[in-house]
Amino acid sequence: MRLLLAVVVILPLLAQRGAGARGQAGRPDAAASKPEPEEGIPVNDSLVIEKCSSCHQKDAKGNLSRISFVRTTPEGWQEAIKRMLRLNGLQLKPEEARAIVKSLSATHGLAPEEAKPVMYIAEQRIIDETIPNDTVREACTSCHALGRAASWRRSKEDWDLLAAMHTGLYPVSDISFHRFRPPSDAPPQPGVDTRQPVEQALEYLSKTYPLHTPEWATWRARMRAPKLSGRWLVSGYQLGRGKVIGEMQVEPGGSDDEFTTSLKLTYLKDGSTVTRTGKANVFTGYSWRGRSAAKSAAAAPSPTNAGGVPEELREVMWVSPDQSQMEGRWFWGAYQEFGFDVTLRRAGDGPSVLAVDRTMLKTGSTAQRVKIYGDNFPRVTAADIDFGTGVTVKRLVDQDVGHVTAEVDVDAKAIVGKRDVSVRRAVVPNAIAVYDKIDYLKVSPETALARLGGNSHPKGFQQFDAIAYNRGPDDKPHTPDDVELGPVDAEWSVEEFYAVYGDDDKDFVGALSPSGFFTPSSEGPNPKRKFSRNNYGDVWVVATYKGELGKDGKPLTAKSYLVVSIPLYVRWDQPEVGQ
Ligand code: HEC
Ligand code: HEC
Repeated sequence: MRLLLAVVVILPLLAQRGAGARGQAGRPDAAASKPEPEEGIPVNDSLVIEKCSSCHQKDAKGNLSRISFVRTTPEGWQEAIKRMLRLNGLQLKPEEARAIVKSLSATHGLAPEEAKPVMYIAEQRIIDETIPNDTVREACTSCHALGRAASWRRSKEDWDLLAAMHTGLYPVSDISFHRFRPPSDAPPQPGVDTRQPVEQALEYLSKTYPLHTPEWATWRARMRAPKLSGRWLVSGYQLGRGKVIGEMQVEPGGSDDEFTTSLKLTYLKDGSTVTRTGKANVFTGYSWRGRSAAKSAAAAPSPTNAGGVPEELREVMWVSPDQSQMEGRWFWGAYQEFGFDVTLRRAGDGPSVLAVDRTMLKTGSTAQRVKIYGDNFPRVTAADIDFGTGVTVKRLVDQDVGHVTAEVDVDAKAIVGKRDVSVRRAVVPNAIAVYDKIDYLKVSPETALARLGGNSHPKGFQQFDAIAYNRGPDDKPHTPDDVELGPVDAEWSVEEFYAVYGDDDKDFVGALSPSGFFTPSSEGPNPKRKFSRNNYGDVWVVATYKGELGKDGKPLTAKSYLVVSIPLYVRWDQPEVGQ
């Protein structure tokens, strides 16, 4: 039954365009009532034509059915091609698949501006997505992130066919796509949209994510080979371990969109270093997908080595259109739960500032040491260093080409807020915050997910950070002008999130280390638990900071909502694009 349904749905999924065109030629009257089909984007690559056109018919304009009417990220292409291999009978060698993903990403890709808002998909970040409206939420977000859809641009017809593919392959989509309504004789209410959620969602998607956009037209003209060889300065942040800085040397690889890399990073907090070598592909002129391996084997993540950088990590970055910067995430872990948020800047001939070793300076404090890290620093004096008004550089403690340590006094009335730090004309924006008081904390991430494992599935860990905030110039906490001050050393504990009577999740879900590193328990039934349930559950992760007291005279606290779930059995990751 399932198979029959799939066949019935899929035949029209491919034939529609061809048949539509033939129908129009044969019956001009019918054509008049049908809207003109949208122009496709022709496919000229002979390998793509050879491998795909047996099923995806080529028309007189060089369009392949379906393929010419969609654009997407390298991951989007990789995923679609995997389905062709898995379900539709396509046969490809791995190197052919790689070449096709590259080719289609270049001719049927996203513009950098289109890709930026959905980078979190490739970067494997867990975020709270902004969903435009309730019908889109209902129709498209119950099985996967909306970012999956927002990673595509399609003709109206192809958005409709995508929904048809879902109905054919995943009949449960029907529950999300259609609402059951009892028959009604009542006349339709004016202003009430009675269309099914899927129809409303498809209208939204085809308007918001059309095949042809000015961004893509501009990028097609502007796209050029990524000339990324050279020395890059890295600054980044790892949850729980703080800031890193370093250098990445990029060398040409096998072709003009492939590179090899060597990397050295230093954690500012403890001075430990990471050295790695790697390689990367750059798709569509700006989509860096790489991986690097440790020069010396490092330990697996554990409470004592929270998020320790492992053998292999993946790099996903967005290269700025002018090729002067890259930003993104380098990640690892069974659920890609560990990672650096990184920014890379091309090293220049002159000085650049990368980072400072602390994140906040208190008003009225004196002789505060701040170490400024950078590249190509000349010999400087106190007058060359600037933290903005109210912060006076008294003297320089030491300096060399890579750093300068300044001793500063902070005026009692210095304006509260983030400051740029500059060494002559080189500047690092928003590098350090001036504050009078820590008003409250937040736990990052505010909502979190860990996964049971250790028997037959890997564990999904979670690191937490306690971030301090100042109430900002309006004197009111929890308003948009509040100033983020950076992480503070907090004490960590787990509290029950009361959802049911006799809630006992706290005792079973796992353990939180003194540094805020959560290790989930093992998966599978637990005879020690009531009803031998799995160790899943939801709890509060609480940070307590005693360095400053709140209005009530008590230490500051904040919490994060942690869900500890079962292992993930189906993955929609596309790691191949980085190989
Ligand atoms: C053996 C037949 C066959 C071959 C060969 C084939 N496809 Fe498909 N393709 C299908 C069928 C059937 C569908 C419609 C059902 C679906 O989406 O899986 C489809 C749909 C698609 C879609 C639309 C998916 C969506 O998200 O709506 C894309 C894109 C696609 N194919 C790309 C390719 C590419 C690229 C190639 C060549 C590398 C290829 N196909 C080769 C059979 C094939
Ligand atoms: C019932 C669960 C479910 C719902 C509801 C659902 N999807 Fe999907 N979607 C999937 C699955 C499963 C896949 C993976 C298909 C594959 O590659 O085999 C997928 C894949 C996709 C893809 C990638 C297409 C490709 O060619 O690989 C897009 C885009 C997408 N969905 C968009 C949507 C949109 C838009 C909606 C709402 C109209 C939606 N999905 C609703 C389950 C769902």
